Amino acid sequence: MGVEIEVNDLTKSFGKQLIWGDVSLTIPAGEICVMLGPSGTGKSVFLKTLIGLLKPDRGSIIIEGTDIASCSERELYEIRKLFGVLFQDGAMFGSMNLYDNIAFPLREHTKKSESEIRAIVMEKLDITGLIGTEHKLPGEISGGMRKRAGLARALVLDPEIVLFDEPDSGLDPVRTSFLNQLIVDLNAQIDATFLIVTHDINTARTVPDNIGLLYHKHLAMFGPREMLLSSEEPVVRQFLNAQKIGPIGMSEEKDADELAAESDQELPPLPPIPMQLEPSNGIARRSQREPGAWCREQGITPPPGSFEDNISMAPGA
Ligand SMILES: Nc1ncnc2c1ncn2[C@@H]1O[C@H](COP(=O)(O)OP(=O)(O)OP(=O)(O)O)[C@@H](O)[C@H]1O
Ligand SMILES: [Mg+2]
Repeated sequence: MGVEIEVNDLTKSFGKQLIWGDVSLTIPAGEICVMLGPSGTGKSVFLKTLIGLLKPDRGSIIIEGTDIASCSERELYEIRKLFGVLFQDGAMFGSMNLYDNIAFPLREHTKKSESEIRAIVMEKLDITGLIGTEHKLPGEISGGMRKRAGLARALVLDPEIVLFDEPDSGLDPVRTSFLNQLIVDLNAQIDATFLIVTHDINTARTVPDNIGLLYHKHLAMFGPREMLLSSEEPVVRQFLNAQKIGPIGMSEEKDADELAAESDQELPPLPPIPMQLEPSNGIARRSQREPGAWCREQGITPPPGSFEDNISMAPGA
């Protein structure tokens, strides 16, 4: 279960505005990837391109031997059934209660009976901790519950790939922690491929197997979590450690004067690499490896204090 997504030289622009170019990466089957990047770098556009809602200018997206970028509408319709998507705002129908919202894809895309639908909806409500709220309207529940309801709906068709667009935006830190645990548990349980867009550095540092960073119209880096968290590459280092010092400025890139003014400032040392969040349901992650395995294989010394239990997860926290 869970399928690989292979992206080759993907380029997307709107009119004359290039959003990103020559993006190549392979999202491994069944693993969790996080995609990061400053606002407006085209993360949501990337997700929409992966499901064929937007057409790239060039490049390919290969899923189970089909190129999403060039396939027919019919093939696209079939491939889309592999996806579950959690949109940025949950995208619930405001006038439908949670039960009907979650049942919607089943009623729309399958010929299942109402009793079969009921069994599936109740199971998804159960795994997302929403039993008892099924008769509420989306406007009557908290933001965190709406996110979980969106997740329940993304799961009803048993997806092989789940895309999350900022699942943690607008959530308090405690709810974000619960949601992250739920995501890791679900990934282990359903063994689908997960791609998460987030601005939460703590999520990026602890949840994924792989991290990508979109910056300045290209993919600055993509690779195993330990690779990016031990990277000295200025943009990666600045972003993953939420620092002001570095090439990324408030609006776009810093200019030469700004960078020169910083050149005598000493960068703080890289913080320790935290342990990866483990599933709480006793099922191993598909790609579960010894902490520090990637660093050892590459002969890279991780920052002091890495992979010790109970280290603070957020830089500066
Ligand atoms: N349908 C569209 N037509 C034209 N331009 C678009 C369209 N969708 C997005 N854009 C532009 O593409 C750029 C990237 O937008 P996108 O929403 O992907 O950014 P993002 O990285 O998800 O940002 P954020 O972190 O704020 O969610 C923006 O400049 C946006 O205006
Ligand atoms: Mg976005």
